[in-house]
Amino acid sequence: MTVYIPEEKISEIKHAADIVDVVSEVVALKKTGKNYLGLCPFHSEKTPSFSVSPEKQIFYCFGCGEGGNIFSFLMKQEGVTFPEAARALSRRYGIELPTRTMSPEQKRRMSQREHLLAVNKQAMDFFHDFLLKAPGGEKARAYLSGRGLTAESIERFKLGFAPKSWDRLLQFFSQKGIPLNLIEKSGLIVPRKSNSGYYDRFRDRIIFPIFDLSGQTIGFGGRILDDSTPKYLNSPETPVYSKSRSLYGIYQAKSRCREKETVYIVEGYTDLLALHQHGIDNTVATLGTALTSDHVRMLKGLTGTAGKVILVFDSDDAGIKAARRCIEVFDKEYVNARILVLPTGHDPDSYLSEFGVDLFLETAEKHTMGIMSFLIGSAVERHGLTMEGKIRVLADMVRPLAQIADKVERSIYIKELSERIQIDESAIYEKIRESAGPAAEARQAKRTRNGAQKSFGSGESRLERRIIAMMLQYPMIVAEINRRGLIDHFSNHELKSLGQVIMAQVEHSETNVSDIIASIEDSAQKSLTAALAMGEEIWDYEGCLRLINQFMASKDRRSNRLLNEIKAAEEKKDFELLNKLLQEKQVRARKGTSQPE
Ligand code: CTP
Ligand code: MN
Repeated sequence: MTVYIPEEKISEIKHAADIVDVVSEVVALKKTGKNYLGLCPFHSEKTPSFSVSPEKQIFYCFGCGEGGNIFSFLMKQEGVTFPEAARALSRRYGIELPTRTMSPEQKRRMSQREHLLAVNKQAMDFFHDFLLKAPGGEKARAYLSGRGLTAESIERFKLGFAPKSWDRLLQFFSQKGIPLNLIEKSGLIVPRKSNSGYYDRFRDRIIFPIFDLSGQTIGFGGRILDDSTPKYLNSPETPVYSKSRSLYGIYQAKSRCREKETVYIVEGYTDLLALHQHGIDNTVATLGTALTSDHVRMLKGLTGTAGKVILVFDSDDAGIKAARRCIEVFDKEYVNARILVLPTGHDPDSYLSEFGVDLFLETAEKHTMGIMSFLIGSAVERHGLTMEGKIRVLADMVRPLAQIADKVERSIYIKELSERIQIDESAIYEKIRESAGPAAEARQAKRTRNGAQKSFGSGESRLERRIIAMMLQYPMIVAEINRRGLIDHFSNHELKSLGQVIMAQVEHSETNVSDIIASIEDSAQKSLTAALAMGEEIWDYEGCLRLINQFMASKDRRSNRLLNEIKAAEEKKDFELLNKLLQEKQVRARKGTSQPE
């Protein structure tokens, strides 16, 4: 199956790992009957249709049809290969993999992703040590303590300092014999423009390492110590770092977000550190980018269906802009976010140091508002309520209102706006209609489509589907199905080939669904298998035989019907149809289902 993780190790991982445990990292799950249910991390949804079976060790989403076992979950969720997923699991469950005995060939195959994560980890340790120990780190230590950051925060977030030098990090890596092109890929060094060679990207800056959910170092931010620009410098997008999918502090915040079912979102590194240091650990920060659907899904995975999302943005223009941009993603992900508006001139960091944590929490409790109300309020504040002012307020609000897909919700906000600016609701509706046009309708149509399930419409396929489900849920019957050659009679190709896979696997005494899924390459087929295995029908041998007989009988009926149709076509002298029917008959004959004439 794979490159260099020995088969017995894979099997050890399978035994140790638990899919509920692993999925819980990213999806808030609730027990319902035998299974667990949560919001699907692979598509936008309001009500949970993502289910995980601890017994079968598989997952399946009834909304989007994604499904598989623990390995496929990680591969899909993290965008990694099978060996990477296996190695991540082995780390998590403390299973030692024989890395020391890797041959050069095997080392080469260790993925680029893993190499980059290793490089980032080493750079993080280098920056951190430099901050804490090097004489050159003195001024950075003074800067951080001047901003009120404690030694514990520095340790917990592994803050560091990049020396004032063009090549200290470069030399550090060169001495270790790490290939330059790899370090370049990590974004830590930059090729020189004029002549050959590289220089360090981060120089004379405080370093904020960025972690993913599992604590791997994926990138860095660097802040200058004085007022020069740019104030912040960040890692570029790399194979392991994408800012639209990363949130600063998520690793340190995740357990508290789960516990409180609430998350605060701030805009910057220092705001995040301030909140965490004041014990508000359920805080993450966006990294100089607008909030994306991926971000919101990650957060929903931590806080669950009823989770609270509170944006803590500055009340300046940038904050308003950020709030405007959020509306659509929150709406798309069915999250009802609220916004906490701080007094003008404050960001969370400065607010906390001036007013303290109690007042912050009190404000967060009492004075948050819905994003839409916040936008209405700030538009009114900005434009006033003169005639012209009202027109501008309305113009500002048309787009955010148009982005709300839910009609009822939208009508509530339209009412609010109408009352606030004393303009008829119907006039507001008219404005929105004018602006919306076909784009909004297309969006709506797409939503409906995405929600629709892949169908196996015909009665024939439905029966075949049930038979596959039966094989997966009651493997004892597979021998009988094999004996009767039932699968050969299947007419749906997908189901037929899945049936063949299952028979082959069961012959190799693989009777558990997760292992059958593991043997399937094609991801659509994996999902189909999970879908069919997930059912909770209770099977017994008798019932299975009845289903088998029902299937055979329907095949016979179908052949009889074919014969009748042929006779009719002959009588009508419809040679085109006759030709088609004869061909079909031939195909069936090859499958061995034709009836004696
Ligand atoms: N940012 C960035 N590049 C910049 C400026 C800002 O990437 N040139 C991002 C950083 O993630 C920063 C966030 O936007 O943390 C918010 O910016 P800002 O409010 O200017 O910085 P603060 O986090 O408040 O930093 P400080 O308190 O140190 O000034
Ligand atoms: Mn600040």
